[in-house]
Amino acid sequence: MEERTLGQILWDRQVSRRDFLKFCTVMAGTLALESTFAPRIARALEFSKRTPVIWLEFQDCAGCTESFLRASRPTTAEIVLDVLSVDYHETIMAASGHLAEEAKAATIEAGHYLLVVEGAIPAAQGGIYCTIGGRTALDILEEAAGNALAVVAVGSCAAFGGIPKAAPNPTGAVGVMDLVTDKPVLNLPGCPLNAVNLTATVVHFLTFGELPAMDDLHRPLFAHGARIHDNCERRGHFDAGEFVREWGDEGHRKGWCLYQMGCKGPATYHNCPTVRWNDGTNWPVGGGHGCIGCSEPGFWELGAYNTVELFDATPPVGYPPVAEAEGKITPAAAGVIGGLAGLAVGVAGAAAAQRLSKSEQDEPEQGKE
Ligand code: SF4
Ligand code: F3S
Repeated sequence: MEERTLGQILWDRQVSRRDFLKFCTVMAGTLALESTFAPRIARALEFSKRTPVIWLEFQDCAGCTESFLRASRPTTAEIVLDVLSVDYHETIMAASGHLAEEAKAATIEAGHYLLVVEGAIPAAQGGIYCTIGGRTALDILEEAAGNALAVVAVGSCAAFGGIPKAAPNPTGAVGVMDLVTDKPVLNLPGCPLNAVNLTATVVHFLTFGELPAMDDLHRPLFAHGARIHDNCERRGHFDAGEFVREWGDEGHRKGWCLYQMGCKGPATYHNCPTVRWNDGTNWPVGGGHGCIGCSEPGFWELGAYNTVELFDATPPVGYPPVAEAEGKITPAAAGVIGGLAGLAVGVAGAAAAQRLSKSEQDEPEQGKE
Protein backbone atom coordinates (compact mmCIF):
# COMPACT_ATOMS: atom_id res chain seq x y z
CA MET A 1 0.00 0.00 0.00
CA GLU A 2 1.31 3.42 -0.91
CA GLU A 3 2.53 5.43 2.07
CA ARG A 4 0.26 8.31 3.01
CA THR A 5 1.41 11.90 3.28
CA LEU A 6 0.59 14.31 6.07
CA GLY A 7 -1.65 16.22 3.67
CA GLN A 8 -3.77 13.09 3.16
CA ILE A 9 -3.90 12.39 6.91
CA LEU A 10 -5.06 15.96 7.56
CA TRP A 11 -7.72 15.67 4.87
CA ASP A 12 -9.02 12.40 6.40
CA ARG A 13 -9.15 13.98 9.84
CA GLN A 14 -11.10 16.92 8.44
CA VAL A 15 -8.56 19.48 9.59
CA SER A 16 -9.37 22.65 7.70
CA ARG A 17 -6.80 24.30 5.47
CA ARG A 18 -7.19 27.42 7.59
CA ASP A 19 -6.30 25.59 10.83
CA PHE A 20 -3.36 23.89 9.16
CA LEU A 21 -1.94 27.19 7.88
CA LYS A 22 -2.51 28.75 11.29
CA PHE A 23 -0.49 25.91 12.84
CA CYS A 24 2.31 26.46 10.30
CA THR A 25 2.40 30.17 11.17
CA VAL A 26 2.60 29.35 14.89
CA MET A 27 5.41 26.87 14.19
CA ALA A 28 7.30 29.50 12.17
CA GLY A 29 6.97 31.81 15.18
CA THR A 30 8.10 29.12 17.65
CA LEU A 31 11.10 28.43 15.43
CA ALA A 32 11.88 32.17 15.43
CA LEU A 33 11.43 32.31 11.65
CA GLU A 34 9.76 35.08 9.68
CA SER A 35 6.06 34.43 9.11
CA THR A 36 6.91 34.25 5.39
CA PHE A 37 8.34 30.80 6.13
CA ALA A 38 4.85 29.49 6.97
CA PRO A 39 3.92 28.57 3.34
CA ARG A 40 7.26 26.74 2.97
CA ILE A 41 6.57 24.79 6.16
CA ALA A 42 3.06 24.03 4.92
CA ARG A 43 4.33 22.71 1.58
CA ALA A 44 6.99 20.55 3.23
CA LEU A 45 4.61 19.11 5.82
CA GLU A 46 1.85 18.47 3.34
CA PHE A 47 4.03 16.13 1.31
CA SER A 48 5.94 14.57 4.22
CA LYS A 49 5.87 10.83 4.68
CA ARG A 50 6.13 9.05 7.99
CA THR A 51 9.54 9.23 9.67
CA PRO A 52 10.35 6.18 11.82
CA VAL A 53 11.19 6.87 15.45
CA ILE A 54 12.74 4.72 18.14
CA TRP A 55 12.06 6.17 21.60
CA LEU A 56 14.26 4.71 24.35
CA GLU A 57 13.70 5.19 28.07
CA PHE A 58 16.46 4.67 30.61
CA GLN A 59 16.77 6.38 34.05
CA ASP A 60 13.56 8.37 33.78
CA CYS A 61 10.15 8.94 35.35
CA ALA A 62 8.34 8.88 31.96
CA GLY A 63 7.35 12.51 32.58
CA CYS A 64 8.59 13.55 29.14
CA THR A 65 6.52 10.80 27.56
CA GLU A 66 3.51 12.11 29.48
CA SER A 67 4.27 15.63 28.28
CA PHE A 68 4.55 14.34 24.69
CA LEU A 69 1.19 12.57 24.93
CA ARG A 70 -0.76 15.20 26.83
CA ALA A 71 -2.27 17.31 24.07
CA SER A 72 -5.69 18.15 25.43
CA ARG A 73 -7.54 17.68 22.18
CA PRO A 74 -6.79 16.46 18.66
CA THR A 75 -4.63 19.21 17.26
CA THR A 76 -2.66 19.75 14.12
CA ALA A 77 0.39 19.27 16.32
CA GLU A 78 -0.82 15.81 17.23
CA ILE A 79 -1.34 15.02 13.61
CA VAL A 80 2.14 16.24 12.74
CA LEU A 81 3.42 13.90 15.40
CA ASP A 82 1.36 11.17 13.69
CA VAL A 83 3.80 11.63 10.86
CA LEU A 84 6.30 10.09 13.18
CA SER A 85 5.99 6.35 13.06
CA VAL A 86 6.91 5.48 16.63
CA ASP A 87 8.10 1.93 16.00
CA TYR A 88 9.42 1.34 19.50
CA HIS A 89 8.39 3.07 22.73
CA GLU A 90 8.27 1.02 25.89
CA THR A 91 5.49 3.05 27.53
CA ILE A 92 3.04 3.27 24.64
CA MET A 93 3.70 0.40 22.22
CA ALA A 94 1.21 -2.44 22.07
CA ALA A 95 3.84 -5.08 21.37
CA SER A 96 5.97 -6.58 24.11
CA GLY A 97 8.82 -9.04 24.56
CA HIS A 98 10.34 -10.51 21.41
CA LEU A 99 7.82 -8.77 19.11
CA ALA A 100 8.85 -5.37 20.44
CA GLU A 101 12.54 -6.18 20.18
CA GLU A 102 12.05 -7.43 16.61
CA ALA A 103 10.26 -4.19 15.62
CA LYS A 104 13.21 -2.20 16.99
CA ALA A 105 15.77 -4.39 15.26
CA ALA A 106 13.93 -4.05 11.91
CA THR A 107 13.84 -0.25 12.21
CA ILE A 108 17.53 -0.09 13.11
CA GLU A 109 18.45 -2.30 10.18
CA ALA A 110 16.42 -0.18 7.73
CA GLY A 111 18.09 3.02 9.00
CA HIS A 112 16.85 6.60 8.33
CA TYR A 113 15.06 6.97 11.65
CA LEU A 114 15.11 9.50 14.47
CA LEU A 115 16.29 8.25 17.83
CA VAL A 116 14.61 9.90 20.82
CA VAL A 117 16.14 9.21 24.24
CA GLU A 118 14.42 9.92 27.56
CA GLY A 119 16.28 9.50 30.85
CA ALA A 120 19.91 9.46 31.89
CA ILE A 121 22.23 6.58 31.12
CA PRO A 122 24.03 4.89 34.03
CA ALA A 123 27.65 4.39 33.01
CA ALA A 124 29.16 3.10 36.27
CA GLN A 125 30.30 -0.51 36.50
CA GLY A 126 29.72 -1.19 32.82
CA GLY A 127 26.14 0.08 32.99
CA ILE A 128 24.73 -2.70 35.17
CA TYR A 129 22.33 -0.32 36.94
CA CYS A 130 19.90 -0.27 34.01
CA THR A 131 19.32 -3.31 31.88
CA ILE A 132 16.44 -4.08 29.54
CA GLY A 133 15.98 -7.57 28.18
CA GLY A 134 19.32 -8.48 29.73
CA ARG A 135 21.25 -5.72 27.89
CA THR A 136 22.68 -2.59 29.45
CA ALA A 137 21.40 0.87 28.59
CA LEU A 138 24.91 1.67 27.29
CA ASP A 139 24.73 -1.22 24.85
CA ILE A 140 21.16 -0.44 23.74
CA LEU A 141 21.97 3.24 23.16
CA GLU A 142 25.10 2.48 21.18
CA GLU A 143 23.25 0.07 18.91
CA ALA A 144 20.23 2.34 18.36
CA ALA A 145 22.37 5.44 17.70
CA GLY A 146 24.40 3.56 15.09
CA ASN A 147 22.05 3.95 12.11
CA ALA A 148 20.04 6.95 13.34
CA LEU A 149 19.78 10.11 11.27
CA ALA A 150 20.00 12.13 14.47
CA VAL A 151 19.45 11.75 18.19
CA VAL A 152 17.06 13.92 20.18
CA ALA A 153 17.58 13.83 23.96
CA VAL A 154 14.30 14.83 25.61
CA GLY A 155 14.20 16.17 29.16
CA SER A 156 17.00 17.28 31.45
CA CYS A 157 17.96 13.71 32.44
CA ALA A 158 18.73 12.64 28.87
CA ALA A 159 20.32 15.99 28.08
CA PHE A 160 22.55 16.55 31.11
CA GLY A 161 22.02 13.64 33.53
CA GLY A 162 19.33 15.50 35.52
CA ILE A 163 18.08 14.09 38.82
CA PRO A 164 19.80 10.67 38.43
CA LYS A 165 23.13 12.51 38.15
CA ALA A 166 22.67 14.41 41.44
CA ALA A 167 25.37 13.73 44.05
CA PRO A 168 26.52 11.20 44.94
CA ASN A 169 25.44 9.81 41.57
CA PRO A 170 26.00 6.17 42.51
CA THR A 171 25.05 4.88 39.06
CA GLY A 172 27.44 7.18 37.17
CA ALA A 173 24.49 8.72 35.28
CA VAL A 174 25.35 10.84 32.24
CA GLY A 175 23.49 12.51 29.39
CA VAL A 176 23.32 11.26 25.80
CA MET A 177 25.85 13.75 24.41
CA ASP A 178 28.49 12.38 26.77
CA LEU A 179 28.20 9.02 25.01
CA VAL A 180 27.06 9.68 21.44
CA THR A 181 29.73 11.75 19.75
CA ASP A 182 29.55 10.67 16.10
CA LYS A 183 25.97 11.81 15.37
CA PRO A 184 24.07 15.07 15.57
CA VAL A 185 22.61 15.18 19.10
CA LEU A 186 19.96 17.76 19.95
CA ASN A 187 18.99 18.40 23.57
CA LEU A 188 15.46 19.42 24.56
CA PRO A 189 15.98 19.82 28.31
CA GLY A 190 13.28 20.68 30.79
CA CYS A 191 11.63 18.79 33.60
CA PRO A 192 9.64 17.72 31.74
CA LEU A 193 10.17 18.38 28.05
CA ASN A 194 7.83 20.96 26.54
CA ALA A 195 6.06 19.05 23.72
CA VAL A 196 5.74 22.29 21.71
CA ASN A 197 9.53 22.32 21.32
CA LEU A 198 9.58 18.69 20.19
CA THR A 199 6.84 19.44 17.65
CA ALA A 200 8.78 22.46 16.38
CA THR A 201 11.97 20.38 16.13
CA VAL A 202 10.12 17.75 14.08
CA VAL A 203 8.59 20.45 11.88
CA HIS A 204 12.06 21.94 11.31
CA PHE A 205 13.50 18.52 10.49
CA LEU A 206 10.72 17.75 8.01
CA THR A 207 10.86 21.20 6.41
CA PHE A 208 14.60 21.76 6.13
CA GLY A 209 15.94 18.20 6.35
CA GLU A 210 18.17 19.00 9.32
CA LEU A 211 18.08 19.79 13.00
CA PRO A 212 17.67 23.44 14.03
CA ALA A 213 20.67 25.62 14.97
CA MET A 214 21.95 24.87 18.47
CA ASP A 215 23.88 26.52 21.30
CA ASP A 216 27.05 25.13 22.87
CA LEU A 217 24.92 22.80 25.01
CA HIS A 218 23.25 21.31 21.91
CA ARG A 219 19.96 23.06 22.70
CA PRO A 220 17.96 24.57 19.82
CA LEU A 221 18.36 28.33 19.76
CA PHE A 222 14.68 28.84 18.94
CA ALA A 223 13.81 27.37 22.38
CA HIS A 224 16.88 28.17 24.47
CA GLY A 225 18.40 31.24 22.84
CA ALA A 226 16.86 33.78 25.20
CA ARG A 227 16.89 34.16 28.95
CA ILE A 228 13.63 33.72 30.82
CA HIS A 229 14.31 36.95 32.71
CA ASP A 230 14.31 38.93 29.45
CA ASN A 231 10.86 37.76 28.36
CA CYS A 232 9.23 37.56 31.77
CA GLU A 233 5.99 39.44 32.32
CA ARG A 234 7.27 40.39 35.83
CA ARG A 235 10.47 41.98 34.47
CA GLY A 236 9.11 45.52 34.87
CA HIS A 237 8.79 44.86 38.59
CA PHE A 238 12.40 43.63 38.76
CA ASP A 239 13.58 46.81 37.09
CA ALA A 240 11.42 48.89 39.45
CA GLY A 241 12.77 47.05 42.51
CA GLU A 242 9.34 45.58 43.32
CA PHE A 243 9.82 42.14 44.83
CA VAL A 244 7.72 39.46 46.49
CA ARG A 245 9.26 39.02 49.96
CA GLU A 246 7.00 36.36 51.36
CA TRP A 247 4.56 33.91 49.79
CA GLY A 248 1.10 35.47 49.79
CA ASP A 249 2.25 39.01 50.62
CA GLU A 250 0.93 42.08 48.84
CA GLY A 251 3.66 41.92 46.19
CA HIS A 252 2.82 38.29 45.48
CA ARG A 253 -0.85 39.14 45.07
CA LYS A 254 0.09 41.99 42.73
CA GLY A 255 2.31 39.81 40.53
CA TRP A 256 5.66 41.38 41.44
CA CYS A 257 9.07 39.88 40.72
CA LEU A 258 10.00 36.55 42.37
CA TYR A 259 13.77 37.18 42.44
CA GLN A 260 13.88 37.32 46.23
CA MET A 261 11.94 34.06 46.42
CA GLY A 262 14.70 32.27 44.53
CA CYS A 263 13.56 32.68 40.92
CA LYS A 264 16.27 31.39 38.60
CA GLY A 265 14.91 33.12 35.50
CA PRO A 266 17.97 35.43 35.30
CA ALA A 267 20.23 32.43 34.65
CA THR A 268 17.87 30.13 32.73
CA TYR A 269 17.57 30.01 28.95
CA HIS A 270 14.18 28.66 27.86
CA ASN A 271 11.13 29.84 25.94
CA CYS A 272 8.65 29.12 28.77
CA PRO A 273 7.39 32.74 28.97
CA THR A 274 6.51 32.78 25.28
CA VAL A 275 5.26 29.26 24.43
CA ARG A 276 4.04 28.47 27.97
CA TRP A 277 2.60 25.10 28.98
CA ASN A 278 -0.69 23.20 28.81
CA ASP A 279 -1.67 24.50 25.39
CA GLY A 280 -0.27 27.93 26.21
CA THR A 281 -2.37 28.32 29.36
CA ASN A 282 0.34 29.41 31.78
CA TRP A 283 3.89 28.83 32.98
CA PRO A 284 5.56 28.54 36.43
CA VAL A 285 6.29 32.25 36.96
CA GLY A 286 2.87 33.18 35.58
CA GLY A 287 1.39 30.84 38.18
CA GLY A 288 3.18 32.67 41.00
CA HIS A 289 6.25 30.47 41.54
CA GLY A 290 9.79 31.29 40.57
CA CYS A 291 11.59 29.40 37.84
CA ILE A 292 13.75 26.61 39.33
CA GLY A 293 16.04 26.39 36.31
CA CYS A 294 14.82 22.94 35.32
CA SER A 295 16.37 23.10 31.85
CA GLU A 296 19.89 24.07 32.88
CA PRO A 297 22.86 21.74 33.41
CA GLY A 298 23.26 20.87 37.07
CA PHE A 299 19.52 20.77 37.72
CA TRP A 300 18.59 19.31 40.28
CA GLU A 301 21.39 19.86 42.78
CA LEU A 302 23.09 22.94 41.38
CA GLY A 303 20.30 24.70 39.61
CA ALA A 304 21.49 27.67 37.64
CA TYR A 305 22.68 29.36 40.79
CA ASN A 306 25.37 27.06 42.10
CA THR A 307 23.35 26.47 45.24
CA VAL A 308 22.16 23.22 46.72
CA GLU A 309 18.84 24.80 47.67
CA LEU A 310 16.54 25.12 44.69
CA PHE A 311 14.29 27.54 46.52
CA ASP A 312 17.03 29.65 48.09
CA ALA A 313 16.91 33.36 47.44
CA THR A 314 20.54 33.12 46.37
CA PRO A 315 20.91 35.19 43.21
CA PRO A 316 22.79 33.73 40.26
CA VAL A 317 26.51 34.35 40.04
CA GLY A 318 26.93 37.71 38.35
CA TYR A 319 23.76 39.19 39.84
CA PRO A 320 23.44 41.63 42.75
CA PRO A 321 22.46 40.40 46.21
CA VAL A 322 18.72 40.56 46.75
CA ALA A 323 18.98 43.34 49.34
CA GLU A 324 20.83 45.56 46.86
CA ALA A 325 18.43 44.71 44.08
CA GLU A 326 15.45 45.84 46.13
CA GLY A 327 14.59 49.27 44.88
CA LYS A 328 18.16 50.51 44.74
CA ILE A 329 19.72 48.89 41.74
CA THR A 330 19.22 50.30 38.31
CA PRO A 331 19.78 47.84 35.46
CA ALA A 332 23.03 49.65 34.55
CA ALA A 333 24.34 49.43 38.13
CA ALA A 334 23.32 45.79 38.26
CA GLY A 335 25.55 45.22 35.23
CA VAL A 336 28.58 46.72 37.04
CA ILE A 337 27.91 44.74 40.21
CA GLY A 338 27.33 41.66 38.10
CA GLY A 339 30.72 42.11 36.47
CA LEU A 340 32.45 42.35 39.88
CA ALA A 341 30.57 39.40 41.27
CA GLY A 342 31.62 37.45 38.20
CA LEU A 343 35.20 37.46 39.52
CA ALA A 344 34.10 34.83 42.01
CA VAL A 345 33.49 32.31 39.27
CA GLY A 346 36.61 30.32 40.03
CA VAL A 347 34.86 28.60 42.89
CA ALA A 348 31.90 27.54 40.82
CA GLY A 349 31.59 24.08 39.30
CA ALA A 350 32.23 23.50 35.60
CA ALA A 351 28.58 23.62 34.62
CA ALA A 352 27.93 26.76 36.63
CA ALA A 353 31.00 28.36 35.09
CA GLN A 354 29.68 27.58 31.63
CA ARG A 355 26.38 29.27 32.44
CA LEU A 356 28.23 32.20 34.01
CA SER A 357 30.10 33.00 30.85
CA LYS A 358 26.75 33.25 29.07
CA SER A 359 25.23 35.37 31.86
CA GLU A 360 28.19 37.71 31.85
CA GLN A 361 27.88 38.20 28.13
CA ASP A 362 24.33 39.33 28.75
CA GLU A 363 25.16 41.87 31.43
CA PRO A 364 26.10 44.77 29.07
CA GLU A 365 22.80 44.24 27.29
CA GLN A 366 20.97 44.54 30.54
CA GLY A 367 22.84 47.73 31.30
CA LYS A 368 21.64 49.25 28.03
CA GLU A 369 17.97 48.75 28.87
FE1 SF4 B 1 10.65 37.16 36.14
FE2 SF4 B 1 12.11 35.75 37.81
FE3 SF4 B 1 13.27 37.67 36.34
FE4 SF4 B 1 11.64 38.30 38.35
S1 SF4 B 1 13.63 37.28 38.53
S2 SF4 B 1 11.62 39.20 36.28
S3 SF4 B 1 10.10 36.67 38.25
S4 SF4 B 1 12.34 35.79 35.56
FE1 F3S C 1 11.54 24.97 34.06
FE2 F3S C 1 11.88 27.50 34.72
FE3 F3S C 1 10.53 26.89 32.57
S1 F3S C 1 11.43 25.81 36.10
S2 F3S C 1 9.54 24.97 33.09
S3 F3S C 1 12.71 26.48 32.91
S4 F3S C 1 10.04 28.53 33.99
